[in-house]
Parts: sequence; C-alpha cells; structure tokens
Amino acid sequence: MDRIRITGGVPLEGDIPISGAKNAALPLMVASLLTDEPLRLSNLPHLVDISTLANLLTSLGVDIVMEGDADDGGHIGRVLTLTCGALSGTTAPYDLVRRMRASILVLGPLLARAGRARVSLPGGCAIGTRPVDLHLAGLTELGAELDLTDGYIEARAPRGLKGSVVRFPKVSVGATENVLMAATLAEGETVLENAAREPEIGDLANCLVAMGARIDGVGTDRLVVAGVPRLSGARYRVMPDRVETGTFAVAAAITGGDLTLRHADAGPVGAVTEVMERAGVEVTAETGGLRVRRDGAGIAAVDVTTQPYPGFPTDMQAQVMALMAFGDGAAVITETIFENRFMHVPELARMGADITVTGSAATVRGVPELKGAPVMATDLRASVSLVLAGLAATGDTLVSRVYHLDRGYERLVPKLVACGARIERIPARGEAGA
Ligand code: UD1
Repeated sequence: MDRIRITGGVPLEGDIPISGAKNAALPLMVASLLTDEPLRLSNLPHLVDISTLANLLTSLGVDIVMEGDADDGGHIGRVLTLTCGALSGTTAPYDLVRRMRASILVLGPLLARAGRARVSLPGGCAIGTRPVDLHLAGLTELGAELDLTDGYIEARAPRGLKGSVVRFPKVSVGATENVLMAATLAEGETVLENAAREPEIGDLANCLVAMGARIDGVGTDRLVVAGVPRLSGARYRVMPDRVETGTFAVAAAITGGDLTLRHADAGPVGAVTEVMERAGVEVTAETGGLRVRRDGAGIAAVDVTTQPYPGFPTDMQAQVMALMAFGDGAAVITETIFENRFMHVPELARMGADITVTGSAATVRGVPELKGAPVMATDLRASVSLVLAGLAATGDTLVSRVYHLDRGYERLVPKLVACGARIERIPARGEAGA
C-alpha cells in the first residue's frame, strides 16, 4: 500500500486550486437516473469515490462519456455526460455499494424511475454505525414498500410514489438527498421538514430545477417539491469543495504560511473561517478565491462543536483538532454528528499531541511542537489531519493507508508540493524493499 512521507516545518506559500466538491458531485451523478436525457456535469473532481459511483451507475444502464479534463472555466475539472436512456437493471450489488456509503442514493431515484430497486446496505468510512433508517422511513412515507433481506433493501412502488409530508426526526444529508430526488417524480406535492441545509443539497436542488423539477425553499430546512411526470437533461457545474477549502485553510494556518485558495467560495466555509479567525488566522475573501495566512502570531485555543450546516462541519473536525494541537491553551472539540469520529486522536498523540477524550468531547491542550512519527490513516478526514500535523511537525511523518485520502482529495500531494511542502508519495512497490 502507498504511503506518504512528510518532512515538516515549511510555511506553505502560493496558490492552490480548489476542486469540485465530492459530496455535491456524487448526488448530482445519481440524478442522471431520473431522466432519459443527457446530464452534463462539469468541474467534477478526479477521485476514487467518483469512479466507484460511475461503475455503479454504468451497471444500472447509465452511459458515461468523459469529455476531457479542462472545462470552460479553464481549470482542471472533469466533464462527464451521463445518459440513462433506459435502465438495464435496478440492483446495486454489495460489491460496489460496500466501497462507498453514498451508493445508497440510487435507491430513491430507482424507485421513482422504475418502481423498484434492490440496494445492498452500504459501507463507507468506519466512523460510527451510520444507519439508513431515515432514508427508508422517508421513502416509505412516499408510498414505497420496503423489506430487508440478506443484507439488501428490497424496495417496490407498484403504484408509483405519492407526494407526502416527510418530517426527518434527525438532520441527514443523504436522506434529504435521497427523498428529494425521489419526490421530484412523485405524484403530487412532497414537503420535506427538518431537511438538511448543507450547500451540496442546494447544488443538487438547483441542478434538479435545471432538469425541470419544481422545488421551493432551496437553502432552507423546508423543501416543497411539486412532482412532475418527467425530467429533462441539463448542464450543471459542481460547486467548489468546501471541505478541501477548509483543509487547505488549516494547512496555511498550521504551517504559519500564506495560501490563496483559488475558486474557493467563502460563503459555505463561514463556520470554519470564523473559528480560524478567532484562533488568530487572517482570512480574506479575494476575487476568485480566499487568502489564508498566519504571520508569526500564535494559535489561540478555540472550542468547537460540530453541527449540521450552517454549524461547524464534522468533516472539518479532525483538521481543526490538528490545528488546536499547536494552540496556546486548551480547546474542547465536541463531535455531535458521528459517535466514533476521534480515530485520529491516538495517531496525533503518537506525534506528541496532548488530547484527552471523554465521551463525545476531546480536550486538546496545545503543545509548542509535534514530532514526526509513523501514523496510520483510519478514515478520509482523519487521515488528512495527520498530513496537516505532519506539515507542521519537526522531522518526518510517514502516513500509511493513504487510500483513504484518494477517496476525497484530488492531487493532494502535488497541490501541497507546489506551495513548498516537502511531501512525497511512496508507491507500494517501494515498500517491498523497505
Ligand atoms: C454526508 C457526507 C459526509 C458528512 C455527513 C455529515 C456525503 C457523501 N457525505 O454523509 O461527508 O460527514 O453528511 O455532514 O455527502 N443517520 C441516521 N439514520 C440515517 C442516516 C443518517 O441515524 O438513515 C445519522 C448518521 O449516523 C449521523 C447523522 O445521521 O449520525 C448524519 O448523517 P448524514 O447527514 O446522513 O451523513 P451522510 O449523508 O452519510
């Protein structure tokens, strides 16, 4: 397995292009199941999760054509045209679904288009139990009949889906997306209450509207969908990745550097930049990007609690913990979304971080320096927090199991190298002799 070696201590300086958002791209690709016309998506990131979903969609009958790397905005980003003229199947098999939890998103669209679906229960990052009960309850409310057999969800809507009021007892990004897509083709009006408000849902809703869906309340926690008999194709550009933006913002801060994050959108990262500013980091929105710098000043300890959007995102919790490991004083980081999302703590501790976990709260007592060490990536965001810590630590950090990073960070190593980082990927072949 590949590893990443980082020799820390270089303040990062320069420009980093922010890629299209993985978490927006995945549901947008799935939306292609809702129409028999071409859906052209631009600014897609080149990531393992995108390829995994492309394989699943292909197996369901979606024809996918890549139109080249550069899109009209001139920066690197894939353009895919997805056309599902006719479904060739309605089963999402275990082998494909286990690699990525977001595969569950095909359930609602398949039900809406074909009246049936058979989807394996999902896998994904090991950050808690991550059930799918909210997806299932929402689709049942729209008239789907569901059974769980042999690890598969067997779903049928013999008389089609019917609009209804779906009130989510808990905010869920995926369940909101699944039910929203299904509702666009349901008969009559669907109201989604306590819907997630993450910007990626806004991206999905805007694309669905471009495809002819009728959705009110985009950006709020109450979405009202008037079902239509059919959707058409569309062209849509995926939003910039707010987690990648936040991650590189921390890279600038943690190394005492100065980075301009090109194509970044300041709005969706507001909760993250607010924490950084309170920590003493300078963040300025500039035309076409976001500039983040820390000039010799210390890092003030800031308490952080993860919340659904617009609160502080759980996907940035590990990265901000790496930053607070260097803070002046103690910061309490509370994780309210996932129950097992502190797997980076023992790894950061191996580098000398002083962190105590009690239940869902981690108390991070800042130390003047971390020392490079061999560490192991455990999930997508946890692994990038180890890279960030390594960038600021003294000596060498060797991160193993980097396939987690490939799921969510496009060209992470080259992007950091271009800003002066001493970081390299060591291919698995090199490991044999090591
Ligand atoms: C999405 C993101 C992920 C992010 C998460 C929270 C994608 C592809 N992934 O994941 O990066 O960390 O939102 O912002 O967009 N839950 C249930 N029952 C369900 C569904 C969820 O109890 O049926 C719980 C989960 O266990 C978790 C919470 O609800 O505790 C939020 O999960 P959810 O918003 O659904 O996360 P995902 O959509 O899986």
